[in-house]
Amino acid sequence: MSPAESLPDRLNRTQDTRGDDIFYRFANGLEIKTEIFHKSDPQRILPLGTPQGCLMNHLLGFPESVQGKRVFEPFAGSGALGFMALKVGAREVDFLDINPRAADFHRESAALSGLDAGQFTSITQDIETFAPDQKYDLILANPPFIPTPDGIEGTLTSNGGSEGSRFVDLLLGRLEQFLESDGRALIYVFQFVKESLPLIMEGLNAIATRRPVELTPAQNHRISLDAYSKAYVQLFPQAVPAIDAWRSALLAEHGSGLELCHYVVDIGPCSEGPTRCEIQENFSEKFGADFIVPSENEAELAFGRAFENFVPPPLPS
Ligand SMILES: C[S@@+](CC[C@H](N)C(=O)[O-])C[C@H]1O[C@@H](n2cnc3c(N)ncnc32)[C@H](O)[C@@H]1O
Repeated sequence: MSPAESLPDRLNRTQDTRGDDIFYRFANGLEIKTEIFHKSDPQRILPLGTPQGCLMNHLLGFPESVQGKRVFEPFAGSGALGFMALKVGAREVDFLDINPRAADFHRESAALSGLDAGQFTSITQDIETFAPDQKYDLILANPPFIPTPDGIEGTLTSNGGSEGSRFVDLLLGRLEQFLESDGRALIYVFQFVKESLPLIMEGLNAIATRRPVELTPAQNHRISLDAYSKAYVQLFPQAVPAIDAWRSALLAEHGSGLELCHYVVDIGPCSEGPTRCEIQENFSEKFGADFIVPSENEAELAFGRAFENFVPPPLPS
């Protein structure tokens, strides 16, 4: 049997930075405005990288998964995932973000992309309290998922609590309130891995009693807790005691050998028959080899992830 072909890069993304803003342009006319990573603002709007790229490319590669659907993008930030869904033929999109600045970015990106303001709603609310009027057919989510030592404030875009699962756990815990029984959710996560299984596996196994779950690793090499802790020490030298305490607590709870890896979680429609949660090595054919997280250089990847929580001091005026 020949190996499955990789999904081609259908995004053809280009970008243009002007001051603190980045404008991304896509082959299908979509234009998304974000802000630069190192903006001195903990409420900055996240720029786009491989997480958004892989989910957006999946929508372009499998348009039937989104056409005519009512879509929810919690943790919307710039709204890149939901706007791509609209471009591909979604019926309507609800964006949810606790950051009130996000709605302005949605208005601007929609106008730049020639999208009708009537097709989407920007909701400024906490995922914890949000109650939708109607359930959704498709959820697209890239939540804050960076494991962050207690004692480091981090950023609104990225601090996912000490194990990085705070928001994905919240979303999974409320999944049936948000998702139609025949609906599907695609969620990007970054996880501690223990004995080859991400910590989130327990929560996903609970969901798999009613819905099939596929977990696709989004990087070829995992990174170690050591490398990840070192990146925090480099970026936050004043927080060494907090970093040491966080690392010791993780080791005490989960044992040595903890690693980190990105995954895409794909939760399918409710099923009458038996369902399972399975890890599938199918990133290339499902999302495109161009969007795999570069992981050959462990220290670089660890630094890049911890850097999402770093807010540089304002430049002197
Ligand atoms: C990792 S960013 C993702 C942004 C966008 N989806 C993307 O992929 O570029 C996470 C977003 O979650 C939002 N967020 C953080 N805490 C939240 C909460 N409690 N409720 C809703 N949104 C929240 C942040 O403001 C941020 O825009």
